[in-house]
Amino acid sequence: MREFIDSLLSKMTVSEKMGQLVQCGNSIYNDDYKVGWDLLREGKIGSFLGICDPEIINELQRTAVEETRLGIPLLFGFDVIHGFETTFPVPWAEACSWDTELAKKTAAIASAEAGAQGINWIYAPMVDVARDARWGRIVEGAGEDPYLGGEFAKARTEGVQSDIPDIPHVAACAKHFAAYGAAEGGRDYNSVDMSPQTLYNMYLPPFQKAIDAGADSIMTAFHDLNGEPCTGSYELLTEILRDKMNFKGVTISDAGSTNQIKTHGYAEDDKDVARIALNAGLDVEMCFGIYTYQDHIEQLVEEGKISMEVLDRAVRRVLELKYKCGLFENPYRDVKKAKDILLTKTALDTAYESAVKSVVLLKNDNSVLPFKKDIKLAVIGPFADNSEEMLGAWSAVGKAENVINPLCAISDVTETVYEKGCNFDSCVDMEKAVETVKQCDAVVVFIGEPRDMNGEGKSRTRNVIPKAQLDLLKAVKAAGKPTAAVVIAGRPVVLTEVCETADAVIFSGALGSMAGKAYADILFGVQNPSGKLVNTFPTTVGQAPLYYNHNNTGKPPVEEFFWTSKYCDCPIEPLFPFGFGLSYTSYSYDNMRINSECLNINDTLSVSVDVTNTGGRDGEETVQFYIRDVVGSIVRPVKELKAYKKVFIKAGETKTVTADIPVSDMGFYNKKLEYVVENGKFIAYVGGNSRDTLEREFEVTGSEET
Ligand code: BGC
Repeated sequence: MREFIDSLLSKMTVSEKMGQLVQCGNSIYNDDYKVGWDLLREGKIGSFLGICDPEIINELQRTAVEETRLGIPLLFGFDVIHGFETTFPVPWAEACSWDTELAKKTAAIASAEAGAQGINWIYAPMVDVARDARWGRIVEGAGEDPYLGGEFAKARTEGVQSDIPDIPHVAACAKHFAAYGAAEGGRDYNSVDMSPQTLYNMYLPPFQKAIDAGADSIMTAFHDLNGEPCTGSYELLTEILRDKMNFKGVTISDAGSTNQIKTHGYAEDDKDVARIALNAGLDVEMCFGIYTYQDHIEQLVEEGKISMEVLDRAVRRVLELKYKCGLFENPYRDVKKAKDILLTKTALDTAYESAVKSVVLLKNDNSVLPFKKDIKLAVIGPFADNSEEMLGAWSAVGKAENVINPLCAISDVTETVYEKGCNFDSCVDMEKAVETVKQCDAVVVFIGEPRDMNGEGKSRTRNVIPKAQLDLLKAVKAAGKPTAAVVIAGRPVVLTEVCETADAVIFSGALGSMAGKAYADILFGVQNPSGKLVNTFPTTVGQAPLYYNHNNTGKPPVEEFFWTSKYCDCPIEPLFPFGFGLSYTSYSYDNMRINSECLNINDTLSVSVDVTNTGGRDGEETVQFYIRDVVGSIVRPVKELKAYKKVFIKAGETKTVTADIPVSDMGFYNKKLEYVVENGKFIAYVGGNSRDTLEREFEVTGSEET
């Protein structure tokens, strides 16, 4: 590869080099944009965004290969966030499975479907830690925890890049670098002001795991971090990303985040933008209307404001990626094969498995669920007969016609009567719905947050279920029948009233192609729910941001003392803690033990616990292991997830579950931004969620004090 690229680079003009760094939207078919076929033929475009039709891809590829001077093929990038045509649960929902093997598999299937069309660059996984329910992009990630987020970052990166036979390599892109999820006020694109310690300890770890898993590319974020737009920050893109985190692949801007450097007030004009971004370490400009690289790099090189070394370095990385994707050997795709690979049985079976495992049971009074199969069931609510909504935010090319929706699937199981009852935010036939319920044995109400209320640019200050839907739930419950609510949302919505009203509450993000079947099988007990929340759920909107791994403060909340850190108008506790999720069976945790109460820096802490399935059904439990470093040179979180195990336990059976946690994993970045494990007292915790845990103390010795 090196020789090939050296030789190619030596033949390239500055203009051709620049072209490799330009990514254009599908605007080639749009006269409003200046990027057109001539520019492509001149070698001034290196990649495209958002084109996924294999015939068009082949046509553009043929133009680049046959009609440009050097014949360098193009890269085609696309947002394959949770499936291509087969739609898997939205990433945040899927994370509730805590099943990274499965996430790897869904990413691999999505990658194969996309790769067969000619897409070679997937803009996923999103690995932003997200602690603020107001931020709509929570739906794209894996929740609030850096450890769990890192495990999913690794799995999804490996999945996208898993190199399926017959499909050339597809590159993953971990995004959005960095700390995008910490937008002030939860308002998308907003500034982030954060200590370097929080950045290193909480927000960078998932990126590091994606890099260590071989992520070919990283996308820079829109916002300004500590006063510098991420896309133009040398500190972030070179000193941290390359020098400290050892990233060797391609960096790409977010759509137009380059020219926004000017809007932030950090560059004079577009030419200044190009100078700042390329010198900071940004390789490819994902253009959105304005083409700062295309318009200015040549002149900047001529003026000596961008060195040939900097330009060559960026171009080399892009050419390496093209080489890795096999484009120099085979730039074209077989259009027939591209169709055959979509929506296969394996893909749909995996979508079903993933959907089932993503469902979280939050409440089940009097074991209302599962329903018996021979009942007459009222199916109510605006999500029940809605296939579109099952696709969730950012669903690539997934189509509603290929979705099994809840009503369809439930009607296959038992006698149902359906009544919508209300729209997302207005009442329609509430009385009719109530009458329907009265004629049935039980009711399930499908409510939630519509998919266009979460995702990019969809920050909300009132993260509640729209009033019309809550009113419907209350009215239906008043009919006096066993009432289950299924809530579908793309963020931790306030579920206080839902939980006060319904006998049983099931929660999930949008579940994709097989959503309905997953809900039906859970409602009727064919499947036993096992999902666990990956964000802390608030009791009220004003608690945001809310997360379990917070610091202790000097005045931790105490109910009866008003001068402690809490609110005077609502409880400090969340409605549901991170890691929470019930099942149709129950588990008890006993006999926690650790291998030693005094561990050296090079040792491994081994934590064991006996978990008994105390209910009447077999089930899968996610056993969670946390630690606390009690005294630190900077204060440490009250709990930090360090390991988890998913175990299948038969009814009545007890299993000993053990996690081995190297002491070297218990460190943090200190005041000097050095990674240290400090001597002193620690606590290990184990439980089925982050709140209800057993604990044992231990001591760490032998680390060098700094
Ligand atoms: C989003 C990115 C996405 C890009 C390309 C942007 O608005 O922030 O996540 O990859 O668009 O579609």
